[in-house]
Formats: sequence, C-alpha cells, structure tokens
Amino acid sequence: MNIQLASSLKSHNTFGINATGNLAVFQSAEEIPALMEKTTNSPTLILGGGSNILFTKDPQGWIWKNEIKGIEVLDETNEHVIVRSGAGEGWHNLVMHCIRNNWGGLENLSLIPGKVGASPMQNIGAYGVEVKDVFHSLQAIRLTDGELVTFDQTGCAFGYRESIFKRKLKDQYIIVSVSFKLSKIDHKIKTAYGDIQKELEKSNIQNPSIQDISNAIISIRSSKLPDPTELGNAGSFFKNPVVSSSMADSLQEKFPELVHYPAGDSAVKLAAGWLIEKAGWKGYRRNDAGVHTKQALVLVNYGEATGQEIWQLSEDILLDVQTKFGVTLEREVNIF
Ligand code: EPU
Repeated sequence: MNIQLASSLKSHNTFGINATGNLAVFQSAEEIPALMEKTTNSPTLILGGGSNILFTKDPQGWIWKNEIKGIEVLDETNEHVIVRSGAGEGWHNLVMHCIRNNWGGLENLSLIPGKVGASPMQNIGAYGVEVKDVFHSLQAIRLTDGELVTFDQTGCAFGYRESIFKRKLKDQYIIVSVSFKLSKIDHKIKTAYGDIQKELEKSNIQNPSIQDISNAIISIRSSKLPDPTELGNAGSFFKNPVVSSSMADSLQEKFPELVHYPAGDSAVKLAAGWLIEKAGWKGYRRNDAGVHTKQALVLVNYGEATGQEIWQLSEDILLDVQTKFGVTLEREVNIF
C-alpha cells in the first residue's frame, strides 16, 4: 500500500484536471482489509485509469487507486478460453495480450483508455462491440464486510454504458478482477460499424484476422479521437440519446441528414456528436476548455482548464442542444 497525502491528481485523470486529494494505492486484493482500517472505512472515490471522470472539486477523504495487475487463463477448451485480468491492468494491454494469443472478442475494443476494472462498470463499447458481449464474470470486494463476491452477466445488469455498479450498487464494491470468454477458433469478425470495412479496403484486406481488425480500429480511433497523453479528454462526454420514433421523425423532417440508428421497437438512437456539431459547437474553445475539432462528442482540456470550466461548457452545450432540437443529452463522464 502506498499512501500519498495531498497529492496532485493531474496525472491520475486523462482530462488532466489539477485537483488534489489523499491517494492510497493498492496492488492486490489482500491489501484491501488493511486499507479499510488505515483509511477508516470507505473511500470517497475509487480510481482506475481516471479516463471517465471530471474533477470539479478536490475530493475530501480518501481516493483508492486500484493497481491490481496480472492476466491469467482460468479455463480453456478447443474453442474457448476464459481469461482473467486484474482490475488495475491497462485495458489496451489486455486487448493486445489477447490478440497476440489469437483469442478473439476484444479486437473491436482496441485503444480504449482506462483500466480493466472500469470496463464492466460502464459496459464500455466501440465499433459494434460492448464488454457485455464477451464478459464472463467478475470478482469484487464488498465494502461493508470485506467479502469477495462473484458477479455473472445477469448480476451486472448491463445496459448501454450502464451496469449495476453505476446504479443500485454504486460505491459499494471494489472490482478486483474481470474474466472474459474469448474464442480460440472461428472468430466472429465484426466489420459492420462505420468505417471498418473502408479502412480494411485501404490495405486490400479481404479476410481480416483479429489483428487486422485491431489495426483498423486503432487507425480509425487515432484519426478522430484525441490521445489523452497529448490533449486532455475523457472520450465521449455525453451518451448518444435515445428518443421516441415520432420525435426522431419530426426531427428528420426538419433535418433530413439527421444521423440515427434503430434502438428497439419504437425508439431511435441519435448521434450526439452530430447534434452538437449541427448546433455549431465543433472546434469551439473558451480559455483552455474546448470541443474537439474532429469529434464534437469529445470535450478537451488544452492545458490549464479547470473541471468547473469543462463542466460549464458541457452545461452550455446541453442547454443549446435542448433549445435547438428538444433533445436532452445525458453526461457519460462521471462528474465528481
Ligand atoms: N458525428 C458528426 N459529428 C461529430 C461526431 C460524430 O456528425 O462531430 C456523426 C458521425 O458522422 C457518425 C455518427 O455521428 O455518423 C457517429 O459517430 P462515431 O462513429 O464517431 O461514434 P459516436 O456515436 O460519436 C460512439 C461511442 C464512442 C465509440 C464510437 C465508435 C458513445 C457515447 N460513444 O461514439 O465511445 O468509440 O461510438 O463505436 O456511445 C466513449 O464512450 O468514450 C467513446 C469514445
């Protein structure tokens, strides 16, 4: 256990916000009981890679930073492998490890920032795949009594960027490991989303391997999403809103080029990035807080923006989109 009092959190959040707090870093689940004692009960905040958080104030109390590492095979057959990863392992490291071993299922989720432990929390997703599609189970420590509890698919109650850990069980558990069920043969390659097919064609690839898919995704992501080590950000700031079909129809009458996807029987998902761009915010900058020039759904910190400034910008965008389209955006990033 490593204790850092009144520590700068700038390097612990990908937005690069300069908040301050008391950090307690742990590297194994076995350290947690001692940690509970040392920091008198529950943490104020449990931090992984800090890639989906906006600090608008200094957290009081204790921040626990999960650095539990290690990737191991729990079980395997001729067709499948169950891989378990420590929650503090870098997400992209895990994806690369699986691709090197020719285990399929995570390739579309290449280059997502953050740690493995956060992946089921918000059911991370990209390019046609969500964590829930390959999730096997997770282990978490219950903060009330220190018990190790296993959660399966059903127990996690996954939804679009949602799970039980963001709702009913918020702040009650520490995820220590996550297991995934991946394919060893007959990989189900998914190329339908957006520009994947186009990207493969550029390199003349007809029968892509999981490595080819990963390369294509890395290339697409790098072309529109800013690298947090170069420009502070937390990926998509808002969720893509789901509206009724009738609402979508009337919007489409006014805006024939509206980007939308089916979302169940009488619902339609809109592209928040499109709404924000159409409202005129793409590339907007106010001091060091801005809207990314290539993806309007991503808010950025050009250097010294405060969390309050980023939050205020998001609030102004939210109100403007509401006024112009009658659609209320919901923040995807956790606001602290
Ligand atoms: N669009 C615009 N203008 C923009 C941005 C997007 O018109 O400035 C349009 C695009 O042209 C496209 C559509 O919106 O037709 C969708 O854009 P994109 O494929 O870039 O994806 P997204 O819906 O904006 C979602 C996820 C991303 C994920 C991508 C790819 C959410 C909130 N975001 O973004 O996830 O990488 O799809 O699957 O669902 C994240 O969660 O942090 C994240 C980056």
